[in-house]
Amino acid sequence: MDNNNNNEYTRRPRKRVTKQMARRRQLAALGIIVIILILIIVLICNACSDNKDKPKGENKTGTTTTTAVTTVPMTTTVTTAATTAAVTTADPNDPNTITGITLDKYSVNLEVGGSDMPWVTMTPESSTEKGEIWESSDTSIATVDNIGNITAVAPGTCYVTVKSQNNPVVYAEVKVTVISANGTPANAAGQSAATTAANPVSSSSTETAATQLSNNKVTTSDGLSYVDGILIANKSYGLPESYSPGLDSTAESQFNALSADAAKEGLNIWLASGYRSYDYQKNIYDNYVSIYGADTADTFSARPGYSEHQTGLAIDVNTIDDSFANTPESDWLAANCSKYGFIIRYPKGKESVTGYKYEPWHIRYVGKEKAEAITKSGLTLEEYYGIDSKYQ
Ligand code: DAL
Ligand code: ZN
Repeated sequence: MDNNNNNEYTRRPRKRVTKQMARRRQLAALGIIVIILILIIVLICNACSDNKDKPKGENKTGTTTTTAVTTVPMTTTVTTAATTAAVTTADPNDPNTITGITLDKYSVNLEVGGSDMPWVTMTPESSTEKGEIWESSDTSIATVDNIGNITAVAPGTCYVTVKSQNNPVVYAEVKVTVISANGTPANAAGQSAATTAANPVSSSSTETAATQLSNNKVTTSDGLSYVDGILIANKSYGLPESYSPGLDSTAESQFNALSADAAKEGLNIWLASGYRSYDYQKNIYDNYVSIYGADTADTFSARPGYSEHQTGLAIDVNTIDDSFANTPESDWLAANCSKYGFIIRYPKGKESVTGYKYEPWHIRYVGKEKAEAITKSGLTLEEYYGIDSKYQ
């Protein structure tokens, strides 16, 4: 007993460990373990990012991005970018990996409500993985669906992006400029109501031809092309097969007034051919092709989808052939049709501009003001607005 007691006395006295102290020690140990784990995770992350030999940047929302810049054909620069979180690096040795995107257009101008769809080419063209991801930078200005159909919502400018689904670091951008529905710029005051095919001339125009030319801008809406509020149908600007408005009621009533006034002068001007559907035009055109061949048919007959008659705004009068030229009716029509809002659409000597031979019988409704301005200018519709008429 004594020995035991002595031994106890010769040992260093032990601190008395209370329950509270033991709890503190446990917490401290736990904290150290957590700190060590965090340090290990940070070291692993740093090691991973060091392996990626790419510069760092920021995307529009401030998220860190991995970016690289490459130049693609057509002298357009395509910037490749994606958030580090979203990207899974595509295998560069896989022949299906998309390495580039080019578009047939990098900017589109649309009226509110109009739409357009850029044509996408992905390289390599042999890839079987050409899925597209479409996004708009500002859906309050323009939206885009998952096949690239851009729809204008409100005046302004935004960017629509198409990314490769297979390799989202590859993308191309389209600048979208939206103007108001009557074709005036976004910042123009006092804009009028939307122009429609049925009333294509609602916007007033007191501009000279020169001003018109400098302001020229073709916009598209539901596959229809407009310039200065005028629906264009020529060899460059076609119409959807489904577009079937019938004869425009304003054009019809103006033609009736024209015909009635001509009758007062003893002249007989009648409507020989007005609205023609896509299918009807196809029958006409195919028939001419079978007789004359396509090259000759193209000089006087529009291919289906390209005829002004399908707009419901064109009228052929009297005998639809050269015998109509130089008749009193033909002369009166040329001198007076603009008063009723029509122009002689395919004048003599302008075949290379309009794409068609002289047709003294074919008149096109554009509204009185524009018809008088265009007629006075001596220019064709194409020249007046600086647009082409050529099949692609
Ligand atoms: N003859 C005109 C060009 C048409 O076919 O529409
Ligand atoms: Zn015609």
